[in-house]
Amino acid sequence: SRSLNLAVIPGDGIGQEVVAQGLKVLASVLPQDVKLETKEYDLGAQRWHRTGETLPDAELDSLKNHDAILLGAIGDPSVPSGVLERGLLLKLRFAFDHYVNLRPSKLFPNTATPLAGRPDIDFVVVREGTEGPYTGNGGSLRTGTPAEVATEVSVNTAYGVERVVRDAYERADSRPRKKLTLVHKNNVLVYAGHLWKNIFDKVGQEYPEVSTDYLHVDAATIFFVTQPERFDVIVTDNLFGDILTDLAAAVTGGIGLAASGNINPTGAFPSMFEPVHGSAPDIAGTGKADPTATILSVALLLRHLGFEAEAVRIEEAVSADLAERDGATARTTDQIGDALAVRVAS
Ligand code: IPM
Ligand code: MN
Repeated sequence: SRSLNLAVIPGDGIGQEVVAQGLKVLASVLPQDVKLETKEYDLGAQRWHRTGETLPDAELDSLKNHDAILLGAIGDPSVPSGVLERGLLLKLRFAFDHYVNLRPSKLFPNTATPLAGRPDIDFVVVREGTEGPYTGNGGSLRTGTPAEVATEVSVNTAYGVERVVRDAYERADSRPRKKLTLVHKNNVLVYAGHLWKNIFDKVGQEYPEVSTDYLHVDAATIFFVTQPERFDVIVTDNLFGDILTDLAAAVTGGIGLAASGNINPTGAFPSMFEPVHGSAPDIAGTGKADPTATILSVALLLRHLGFEAEAVRIEEAVSADLAERDGATARTTDQIGDALAVRVAS
């Protein structure tokens, strides 16, 4: 019989609340013969306050023994900015070589968006996840003085760019529209920009069916708002991808619906699935958090592990739920989770 051995990191703030709903829907959608095992990891702000630890080696090792990781959200105003982000979230992405940060955007029915009523919007951003300005390669001279100089170096390797670009071509090739857009800023960031563009063009020769396009990131933000239907698959670096996917979420129904996967396509390490949103300490504990982004992240997790039919059931349930969602009577986190669990039940 099949099994699914999941690591769960609820994390901080609304992370706890949305992950509970994600697990509820997961349990409901899985066929009877699949044995679901979950192990919860106590990582995040509370752990750091208690022990000073962000992600000890023993836990990092233990996390490797799972099929996948479900993460809620990391970050709390009581912890200095960057400590948990770098010491926990980015550490996981780097240690498990999550070089594909997959962030789909779809215009679901009945969502609050400036783009309501537009033709179908359905694109996916393939954000590089292990390089760029996220590597912590930089420093500060004469810190705190009027003569301070800070550098933040973006690291781009041919190896790292080629593998993520290839993954994006594969995804584009398997979609009906077969279109891939490279987003960068190669008129200013010439070294990294040319590396990306050269590799993009070179790998493209292996995918004659895929039509390609290049946009500077500033121009891309305009098209995200004025003409989002032009996009199919987008490949971009770590920081541009971070910014673009928040914009993508905002224009396609809000951050409450945006799912993501931090994927290691080789299977050498477990992939990690999380909503794009953060821990939202301002609404933690109020029951106002929308668990849909986490539930859609569970769908990405299932698809990654080969449970395609179950992933589709979740996505269709969300679509149907949103179509019937009545903006006037707000449902709680729990109620949305319950409604979706019922819809997907096998
Ligand atoms: C995201 C977040 C993270 C990122 C932060 C919390 C480090 O914004 O997942 O998009 O920048 O990648
Ligand atoms: Mn972000």
